[in-house]
Amino acid sequence: MTLRALSVVSEAYPLIKTGGLGDVAGALPAALAPYDVAMTTLIPGYAPVMAALKNTTVLHSYTDLFGTEARLVAGTTKGLDVIVLDAPAFYTRSGGPYGDAAGVDWPDNWQRFGALSRAAADLAEGKVGGPGFDVLHAHDWQTALAAAYLHYDGATVPSVVTVHNIAFAGWFPAHIFPALGLPDHAFQIEGVEYYGGVGFLKAGLHTADAITTVSPTYAEEIRQPDFGMGLEGLILARRDHVFGIVNGIDTAVWNPAEDPYLAAPYERRSLHLRRQNRAAIEECFGLSDGIGPLFAVISRLTTQKGMDVLAGTTDEIVAMGGRLALIGTGDHSIEASFNAAARRHPGKIGVKIGYDESLSHLLQGGADAILIPSRFEPCGLTQLYGLRYGCVPIAADTGGLADTIIDANAAALSAGVATGFLFDGVNKNGLIRSISHATNSFADRKTWRSIQEQGMRADYSWKRSGRQYADLYRRFAKEPAHMEIKTAEQR
Ligand code: ADP
Ligand code: GLC
Repeated sequence: MTLRALSVVSEAYPLIKTGGLGDVAGALPAALAPYDVAMTTLIPGYAPVMAALKNTTVLHSYTDLFGTEARLVAGTTKGLDVIVLDAPAFYTRSGGPYGDAAGVDWPDNWQRFGALSRAAADLAEGKVGGPGFDVLHAHDWQTALAAAYLHYDGATVPSVVTVHNIAFAGWFPAHIFPALGLPDHAFQIEGVEYYGGVGFLKAGLHTADAITTVSPTYAEEIRQPDFGMGLEGLILARRDHVFGIVNGIDTAVWNPAEDPYLAAPYERRSLHLRRQNRAAIEECFGLSDGIGPLFAVISRLTTQKGMDVLAGTTDEIVAMGGRLALIGTGDHSIEASFNAAARRHPGKIGVKIGYDESLSHLLQGGADAILIPSRFEPCGLTQLYGLRYGCVPIAADTGGLADTIIDANAAALSAGVATGFLFDGVNKNGLIRSISHATNSFADRKTWRSIQEQGMRADYSWKRSGRQYADLYRRFAKEPAHMEIKTAEQR
């Protein structure tokens, strides 16, 4: 029997995306469909989302949802079944989904995402707009509160909360608590209280039936203070409910053989065509020819991503004969360091501060390697795109990077299974050593080709992970007998 899942999330590709969360939320419905899960995605009615919505039906109107009028509008768009929370006072703004154009968080984010979470619980419980859902799947702090609403409503609908990044806690001061509409007793340590205020993510982790993280290694890491960001105790206490399910990639959107953003699409057997993409990158980033590797960076420019460390190694990269093409936005001081590096090394380092989906594809399709020196990385998607595109990942040995890349050590090379380079400890020396190792391997064309091909052979589709999510939903869904009954009938 088809299981009906409601995924509630603050971004979903191709409607709206600021990072990997959007990619994953956009890909989940198709990943689950083969396992008889019908997923509807509830998302805020940002202007581009409203503009893209087709075949709309108004499911419900709220006269006062966190102080504003709002509607739940069902529709289809860009291959997704969505329900949009149309609340212009909250979501029709210039700027991003989380903050203004300068990157400052919207001050009413607790209302914007509190409202989204409340609406998700209402929909899942069948209080508004239909019969409800069999399971609710919330993502990160922006929607984790939905699990708490289900819990304190005494609802039977099970909830799954996925941690894409535990560093963002969704903490707000205690005075917002009454406006959340939760019972008084919810404001305690065994509830939504967190460091004297309200923790949206904490509330979800405390109340969800299942917690997932986006890689098995990150699921282990967040039990430790270095990675748990204050939530390690809760994760440890709930360890029997914590599951690590690695992200897949949308192999239709990220397919080097049919990628419209590439100057020359190619496959494993026609890797020589990548040269044309490299030439397009050189032109776009103002780079001159070179015999060393062309490194790419496609990243938020933050300390999580180790971009401060990388910015400090640009002179060494050039000294080793490498070139660098970078696209990203983030901390202004890191942006400034990369801009300064580009000025010091014209023709060798090209920097574009900004966000550009098409350039991100071109870089994967033409650069030799992608640098990902993250201090922590719940999963990471750019290494998966790199693997699929023959753009060899050079990455920190942490989280999902550790789970998806096979380091080119001597044993892996001789067994022919290496797919990239992993290094311990995100610091200047470690990074330089790894880049130097990769640069030497690059000079050995046969070895490099084998690493590229091995990465391209690997399966990073959603097949396995889609099944894992479907199994998890069924384990907690209110009619867990669905599967067994079906099997029994078949017998
Ligand atoms: P995170 O979500 O932590 O930023 P991920 O590796 O999971 O990291 O996902 C990042 C996603 O955002 C990838 O799809 C990547 O290609 C994309 N991305 C990051 N920065 C940029 C940029 N400046 N321009 C285009 N795409 C970007
Ligand atoms: C977060 C994490 C990233 C992960 C993405 C999608 O943004 O930082 O590692 O790949 O979510 O799950």
